[in-house]
Amino acid sequence: MSTATRPGFPHRHLLGIEGLSPLDIAALLDRADEAVEISRQIEKKRATLRGRTQINLFFEPSTRTQSSFELAGKRLGADVMNMSVASSSVKKGETLIDTAATLNAMRPDIIVVRHHQAGAVHLLARKVDCAVVNAGDGAHEHPTQALLDALTIRRNKGRIEGLVVAICGDVLHSRVARSNIILLQALGARVRVIGPSTLLPPGIERFGVEVFTDMRAGLKHADIVMMLRLQRERMNGSFVPSVKEYFRYFGLDGDKLREARPDALVMHPGPMNRGVEISSEVADGAQSLIREQVEMGVAVRMAVLEALATHLPNA
Ligand code: CP
Repeated sequence: MSTATRPGFPHRHLLGIEGLSPLDIAALLDRADEAVEISRQIEKKRATLRGRTQINLFFEPSTRTQSSFELAGKRLGADVMNMSVASSSVKKGETLIDTAATLNAMRPDIIVVRHHQAGAVHLLARKVDCAVVNAGDGAHEHPTQALLDALTIRRNKGRIEGLVVAICGDVLHSRVARSNIILLQALGARVRVIGPSTLLPPGIERFGVEVFTDMRAGLKHADIVMMLRLQRERMNGSFVPSVKEYFRYFGLDGDKLREARPDALVMHPGPMNRGVEISSEVADGAQSLIREQVEMGVAVRMAVLEALATHLPNA
């Protein structure tokens, strides 16, 4: 990728969207645009991370994020190790700090971490010598998801500034929502959140978003409809009366989508619960960007790894 006119990325880790400037974000998206072109070629390999070691340490299940970080690292020439927590010493009671110290002793250059506790990735970053990337920490942040969402929007709409983006569903438990709210507002979008009051964090208005508990009202004139998964694994208690009731009021089907602009585009970070938060008709329809989001995921992760590589020793 060309580096002639690109501003340097001034961060050693990527722990969240919080702390990135609009310039940092735009530079990562520009790098990712170039990575899309590389990924569409037959020869996809680059040497940016040749000789480097990348460890993917996932304490929670993942399909998209883990596999795309693996592909991204390999396309940039890194040796990539996927650490399976299910068969690791974490299962024998080893703490996060001890796991981090053990892996650090093997001298990795980059560790990509997903953890069920908010803040765990920040803690780990203080205990290791290498670059750390947050692949999702509890309900806190999922920065590369927000970056890939922004890239998908920018490539389809030509801009982010001034767009009305409606984020719908289980906002309370969503790290994707939090990272997207920060990023999209930093780039000038108008962000709405829509959901039942039980699934909206108290005081969410303080983030500068418009809040709707009526989905049809919230969707009016939206340019982008971003659906969220109902995260039942993070719920201790009853947040919705029933899945059927939830879909009736907050599931995106063709009828509700007609409240948005005619050229509105539909997104979902995955994994999707068809018939819970989104109908198959919409998920597989002409307005859906869901498959394109997956492609952008590899490109954004290549961009992030490449940006962090500039701070590695002997870079
Ligand atoms: N969107 C997302 O983070 O998906 P995975 O859980 O499959 O990584």
